[in-house]
Amino acid sequence: MNDSWMEVQLKQDDTRQASLIDVQALRDRARRNIAEGAVTAGYKADREIVLKLLNEALATEIVCVLRYRRHFFMAKGIASKSIADEFMQHAAEELEHADRIAERIVQLAGEPDFSPRDLMSRSHSEYVEGASLEDMIAEDLVAERIAIDSYRGIVQYLGDKDPTSRRMMEEILAKEEEHADELASLLQDFPK
Ligand SMILES: [Fe+2]
Ligand SMILES: [Fe+2]
Repeated sequence: MNDSWMEVQLKQDDTRQASLIDVQALRDRARRNIAEGAVTAGYKADREIVLKLLNEALATEIVCVLRYRRHFFMAKGIASKSIADEFMQHAAEELEHADRIAERIVQLAGEPDFSPRDLMSRSHSEYVEGASLEDMIAEDLVAERIAIDSYRGIVQYLGDKDPTSRRMMEEILAKEEEHADELASLLQDFPK
C-alpha cells in the first residue's frame, strides 16, 4: 500500500529532525537562559573579556567625541571653518561608534560604562587640547592611530569567537582609518 501524502511528509520530517541538531535541547536551553539575552550556549568568546574590551573601546570613542568637539569650537575661533567642520563631522561619527558599541554591550548582557570618573584610564587614546590648529590636527591623528591599532587587536581577538562584535569593530576600524587619512591630508596643507 502506498503511503499517503501526509505519512510521507511525516517521515521526511522525522528524518530531517534526526539529522539536524537536537532542536528540543536547543529550545530548552534558549528558554532556560533567557536572562542572558543574545548570549547563547554557542557563544564561543569569553564574555567578560569581550565586555571589558568593548567598554575600553567605548571609553576611547567618548574621549574622541570630547576632543573633537573641543577642537571644533577652538578651530572656529581660529577662523578655519572647513577644518572646524571636519572636526565636528568626526565628533558625530565617534558618537555614533560609541552608541553602537554601547548597544552591543547590552546585547551581550553587559553594562556600558559611561562614568566620567575614570574615563581617561579606560580610554586607549588621549585627550590633548593642542595649542594651534596644526597641533590639534596632529593630536587627532595620533589618537586615530592609537584607536586603529587597538581596534585591530580587538578584531583579531574576537576572530570567529564573536563574529557580530568583530564585524562591528571592523566597520568602526575602517572609519577610523578614513579619519586618519583625512587628518593626514589636512596636515600636509601646513607649510613645513
Ligand atoms: Fe570612532
Ligand atoms: Fe575616528
